[in-house]
Amino acid sequence: MFSRGMKLILMVAFQAMSLISISTASLQYNFYGSSCPNAEQTISNVVYGLIDADPSMAPALLRLHFHDCFVMGCDASILLDPTKANGSPEKTAIPLRGYDAVNKIKAAVEAVCPGKVSCADILAFAARDSVAKSGGFVYPVPAGSRDGNVSSAFSVFSSIPSPFFDAGELVQSFAAKGLTVDDLVALSGAHSIGTAHCSGFKNRLYPTVDASLDASYAAALRAACPDGSAADDGVVNNSPVSPATLGNQYFKNALAGRVLFTSDAALLTGQNDTAEKVRENAGDLTAWMARFAASMVKMGGIEVLTGARGEVRRFCNVTNS
Ligand code: HEM
Repeated sequence: MFSRGMKLILMVAFQAMSLISISTASLQYNFYGSSCPNAEQTISNVVYGLIDADPSMAPALLRLHFHDCFVMGCDASILLDPTKANGSPEKTAIPLRGYDAVNKIKAAVEAVCPGKVSCADILAFAARDSVAKSGGFVYPVPAGSRDGNVSSAFSVFSSIPSPFFDAGELVQSFAAKGLTVDDLVALSGAHSIGTAHCSGFKNRLYPTVDASLDASYAAALRAACPDGSAADDGVVNNSPVSPATLGNQYFKNALAGRVLFTSDAALLTGQNDTAEKVRENAGDLTAWMARFAASMVKMGGIEVLTGARGEVRRFCNVTNS
């Protein structure tokens, strides 16, 4: 019979699939079943090894997929290096981590099936494997998205939500990508892992402490992030509790006034039932896992290139021609 862990995997996968909308219809489950049957296993093996060596790769790879998808769709445009023709691709706009990891994953996949597996799909699978390692649950990922060759730093700031957004602005920025308020709240649970720079939330500490912050948490954040020069931009964990475990702790933190950004705290305000959804996710880990998995799949379907559009890059950081 199934182990408890396996049951959780099956339950989350089943619930997530029932929540997944039609918007990802162009992608297919088991897309590489015949063209590269070992693709997903190869990716998982490399990702698990990378996270074992450096647990901070889990949040890095998860965030990379989010930024890829929100800027001109999930087409691996986030991975392109600057060139003579394009000196300002997306990756020059906001510093992200995990690029070397993606190149390693790609090299391993190319070694088993050259020219078959897109970098866009690799990002989606790597995010799923990062969730498995840090959250202990797995969900099936439909694939078949191809790599684009347009990448512009300019489009990043108009597409990626700001940590200074209020609830209405967050809802709008997700709606612009076809994502709902449920998706916004569920995906925000990603902030149960990883780290953030002081500059993203110092506005809540100085000159006065934001009234919605828990007093002792605010004092700890002030100690970690002294007022003054922006050059000294420290880093703190997104979650003060179990900072390496992806789970619904984020929602418990939000209810306790222990989240970092204006945008995190904003989920408890505003007109879109976000506060009610925060409470629901805080109270039911398994239900959140299913919602998160479904929303990740939905996010992975944003403006994808399929069929003959785009290409399968040989190296994730450069286009083929
Ligand atoms: C709702 C709007 C969101 C805003 C405003 C936002 C903003 C931010 C900011 C400012 C940081 C800190 C970066 C730094 O200072 O180094 C961060 C970190 C992070 N975000 Fe978000 N984010 C949002 C949604 C998401 C979503 C949807 C995901 C994934 C599904 C995500 C995953 C992460 C992860 C994993 C980290 C930690 C990265 C690391 O440790 O390297 N975020 N986010």
